[in-house]
Amino acid sequence: MPTANISPLVVAELQRQLNQELAAAHSYQALSIWCAGQNLRGFAGFFAKQAGEEREHAEKIIDHLIDRGVVPDLAELARPKQDFDLLLEVAQWAQTMEQANTKGINAVYEAAAAAKDYPAQVLMHWFIAEQVEEEAWVAELVARVDDATCAGSLSALDRHSEELLGRKKPD
Ligand SMILES: [Fe+2]
Ligand SMILES: [Fe+2]
Repeated sequence: MPTANISPLVVAELQRQLNQELAAAHSYQALSIWCAGQNLRGFAGFFAKQAGEEREHAEKIIDHLIDRGVVPDLAELARPKQDFDLLLEVAQWAQTMEQANTKGINAVYEAAAAAKDYPAQVLMHWFIAEQVEEEAWVAELVARVDDATCAGSLSALDRHSEELLGRKKPD
């Protein structure tokens, strides 16, 4: 591991964000479980996949810190929100989380820009672009679930959730 050459403020922001990504993974797992409990298997699978992606996001930041000589510190995970009455509430909660995540990523980027930390800025470019996609599918999810007013349209949406909300991911 190299000697750390990174501003403590940027380290603090990256640490906070990697833990936010892990918390998002935990929350998506909870949404997946809620959907499975409602026999919404399509959405259960979709949210389980999201949980995996959020974990990968955390790993990207972990790798970056290790490469720069910093040992990442994992925070305790809070119990995620899992009491919902309707799929619409689940969709809206996912949207709230993604909006909070965008704010978190912007905060990392601002710290990296202020510190003239170019590697952290480049890392955050990927996350900034990713959040545009995340906010797009989650807005579509809220709109589609809001439109699905009868049980039949909800189960049709569930069956096709993967292809409807599927998106091409940047590498
Ligand atoms: Fe993420
Ligand atoms: Fe996300």
